[in-house]
Amino acid sequence: MSDQKSSPVSEMYPPSAEFLARTTHTNLAEISKHAEKDLEGFWAGEAEELEWFRKWDQVLDDSNKPFYKWFVGGHTNVVHNAVDRHAITHRKNKLALIWQSEDGKTQQTFSYHALNREVNRMANIIRSMGVTKGDRVTIYMGRIPEIVFAMLACAKVGAVHSVVFGGFSIDALQNRISDSATKLVITCDGSFQNGKRINLKDITDEALKLCPTVENVIVVKRTGQDVYMEAMRDHWYHDMCVLPIANGKCPTEVMDAEDPLFILYTSGSTGKPKAIVHTHGGYMVGAYSTLKYVFDVKDEDRYWCTADPGWITGHTYLVYGPLLLGATVFFFEGGPTYPYPNRWWQLIEQFGISIFYTAPTAIRALMRFGEAWPNKHDLSSLRLLGSVGEPINPEAWSWFHKVVGKNLCPIMDTWWQTETGTFQITPMPATPLKPGSCAKPFFGQVVEIVDEKGKPVETGAEGYLVLTRPWPSMLRTLYGDDQRYVDTYWTKFPGKYFTGDSARRDKDGYIWVIGRVDDVIKVSGHRLGTAEVESALLTHPAVVESAAIGLPHEVKGQAIHCFVQLNRGFEPKDELKEDLRKHVSTHLGPIAKPDVIEFIDKLPKTRSGKIMRRLLKARAQGLPEGDLSTLDE
Ligand code: WT7
Repeated sequence: MSDQKSSPVSEMYPPSAEFLARTTHTNLAEISKHAEKDLEGFWAGEAEELEWFRKWDQVLDDSNKPFYKWFVGGHTNVVHNAVDRHAITHRKNKLALIWQSEDGKTQQTFSYHALNREVNRMANIIRSMGVTKGDRVTIYMGRIPEIVFAMLACAKVGAVHSVVFGGFSIDALQNRISDSATKLVITCDGSFQNGKRINLKDITDEALKLCPTVENVIVVKRTGQDVYMEAMRDHWYHDMCVLPIANGKCPTEVMDAEDPLFILYTSGSTGKPKAIVHTHGGYMVGAYSTLKYVFDVKDEDRYWCTADPGWITGHTYLVYGPLLLGATVFFFEGGPTYPYPNRWWQLIEQFGISIFYTAPTAIRALMRFGEAWPNKHDLSSLRLLGSVGEPINPEAWSWFHKVVGKNLCPIMDTWWQTETGTFQITPMPATPLKPGSCAKPFFGQVVEIVDEKGKPVETGAEGYLVLTRPWPSMLRTLYGDDQRYVDTYWTKFPGKYFTGDSARRDKDGYIWVIGRVDDVIKVSGHRLGTAEVESALLTHPAVVESAAIGLPHEVKGQAIHCFVQLNRGFEPKDELKEDLRKHVSTHLGPIAKPDVIEFIDKLPKTRSGKIMRRLLKARAQGLPEGDLSTLDE
């Protein structure tokens, strides 16, 4: 899929003089040097550009590693900086949000004034349901403006939101609601996807059968389909909006910098998904600062990030980051190819998008439809492009650069994770680019590429990617599981943050990420754990045991391939394969639907009983089987 393994391409794409003349930050080396010498000073400077109810006493408290604290003693609220303050300045009438429906028939726009009104309204409503500081609220919705209001409303009252991607299904939702002991769920009757309806409320009802902590469910009407409404528990949002309680200002809670803002579940190597915890203070500063430098967002920009709010990219660079900067955000309900493969290009033209941030998998999918589709449209409003989610192969990079950006728009290939909250390795507009490399660490970050023992490898060699400096938006812990936080990220290489990725660094100091070294599968940029897919399969009566692996896929990056050992009495038939694929889709979600099911008599295991996925992967690809000394014959 990419030729990064053999030899990194060394072709350089420096920004043009014309582009540089319009770029705000060109003294990168200087800022970088300052941040490296004085990490706390650099971040304090960034934090001072935002408003605090009380200034911090200490920038970084690292007395209890790896439980770092940032802006200790500071009081703020991310909503104060993302919404409240803009609504009373020259930005009051500026568009905060431009929303377009999937069918293209509806468009809604919200100025910062209007966004503030909507957030107040929803905040009043959730407060009237007894939701207060620290309570968890699960948000399970499609891509409509109310999902943004819901996130901000939670933050405003100090509740901790947990957004569950609308492409997940019953089991995934139920696990996330139970694990977080959620009090309130905000959902929709349904959502649209490629012209089809996804029955979000039905899925919620199923999930809630096993979630006793949920007291109330707010249902936003989107599709207008018939749904079951449980008396006392379920409330139509539009009915609540006309109640007197919904009117007027809802005070923005004063939050401690270290108070949790949200939790977001993400997949890891083993077991259940991990609830990543992010805070009001550090996360806010990180989101603001990274987006400011990397996308150089200006008042005249129209910024579009195609990510769903259900993933970290949606949290940081669709909702919080751009609003903290007072930007105009474009938000689209649909996907890239419905009803035709020109949908995105048409929207870029129609709305005059200047910054466009998307994922390699989408670029590869659109590339297959040919240049004619983008060439139908005037894309000259574009100034800057971005990529995230997995390594971008040089072919996709070149197409994005040439066909979409007309060789005029630099591509910010941003490397980061749910855990890091914000960009950690990324170019900036003034950086000369190498296609397929995410360039260099962000200000203040120092990256190491190490071997199994933690020793830095030679230039150009592959090794584990670790981060060696704390940063404000780092995850604070895993919700309810401090020990797992320490074990997962800080134990393999003591004192350093282990990313789970492998990478190389070339002689110019550019980083080339290769991919995950754990059992995380990246399907169309979505992060899934083999363990999640396997446990979904296990709930099917035909399955004794199974192993899921990710295999290279031209468009999706990776495809899910499952090996299944059948129970007695079940025939290894094609219909059963189809049934198992559907089963995973219904329970875990359509995004997790396996591409291939293969029946196997016995799964290869180590003598200690661990499934050897590495071996399955090698066999499936016809690659050398490697060290088999631990295989239990
Ligand atoms: C994993 C994190 C945070 C953005 C969305 C994904 C891979 C992410 C890049 C990139 C190469 C990348 C890594 C990372 N990844 N961006 N620019 N180049 N790989 O967040 O779901 O938490 O996944 O995505 O493997 O560990 P996530």
